[in-house]
Amino acid sequence: MSWRDVSKLELHLHLEGAAPPSFIRGLSREKSIDISRIFTEKGGYAFHGFTHFLQVYEAATSVLTTPRDYGRLTAAALEQAAENGVVYIETFLSPDFCGGGDLHAWRDYLAEIEDAAAEAEKSHGIIHRGIITCIRHFGPDAAKPIALCAAETAGDFIRGFGMGGDETVGRQGDYAWAFDCAREAGLHLTTHAGECGGPESIREALRDLQVERIGHGVAAHADHALIDILAEREITLEVCPGSNVALGLFPSFATHPLAKLREAGVKVTISTDDPPFFHTSMTREYEELARAYRWGEEDFAELNRNALAASFCDDGTRARVQKILEAT
Ligand code: ADE
Ligand code: ZN
Repeated sequence: MSWRDVSKLELHLHLEGAAPPSFIRGLSREKSIDISRIFTEKGGYAFHGFTHFLQVYEAATSVLTTPRDYGRLTAAALEQAAENGVVYIETFLSPDFCGGGDLHAWRDYLAEIEDAAAEAEKSHGIIHRGIITCIRHFGPDAAKPIALCAAETAGDFIRGFGMGGDETVGRQGDYAWAFDCAREAGLHLTTHAGECGGPESIREALRDLQVERIGHGVAAHADHALIDILAEREITLEVCPGSNVALGLFPSFATHPLAKLREAGVKVTISTDDPPFFHTSMTREYEELARAYRWGEEDFAELNRNALAASFCDDGTRARVQKILEAT
């Protein structure tokens, strides 16, 4: 049995973060934008530590300048995910990078992304839904037009609102206006918390933003009272072990707190975050976790059930994904 062939759900993937370096390098040549500094000699992304990772991420994103680029990126990202057995995926979409938060421009980008998603569903069977994200280190004022883009384009495809970026900047509650706006538009909510920040960041996200899911959340591992809150309230964590190891939060998969959080009753799921940056894929995550924790098919099936229950899609789509899981 190969872990590649097992059907998987993925809830936490940044669309730009799924861009292969060769794709970004190709666009940089086409557009004569010199970003050669962000690549290693072997052609991978070069960064050291979290802050520098975000800078390299934004430099790579700077060559994605048109809706068509995003259509091509979506097609490439979904093909990669489908090749790794992903049958349902939610990706983070950032109007900051797609038209600078302007609603008209965002609609053009979104149209290309949705077209590519429909095509990928036809050719690879993968179902894709979007979560609009503001970017924390761009500040609370910049988050407002992003939330308005989310509210205006909420529907069958755009299902949620969230926040990525540098968690050490400001407080979760500084972004409450944006999250309130998205909630009022009927969107589901998640935010990056407890990745580079501590457990307090997770408590603030629950209290001040009233999110249903937490991106990462691994900083909860040493805070037993918080673990109990997460378990009792069935707050699902979008855990990205390979990302955490690559960014130096934990030295290895074996020392990552995923298994401990699960044993404590927290609903955990597995995602890749930004796979080519972290030299990972959903297949590699499964392989590493199977090795580190001796997990088998039933363990991953439970995590997929968690992901399905916490997914932001409508009930009809959830039932469709359930059927796909049952058939494979
Ligand atoms: N944007 C892309 N990847 C991210 C991560 N791991 N944390 C915060 N923001 C991000
Ligand atoms: Zn992330």
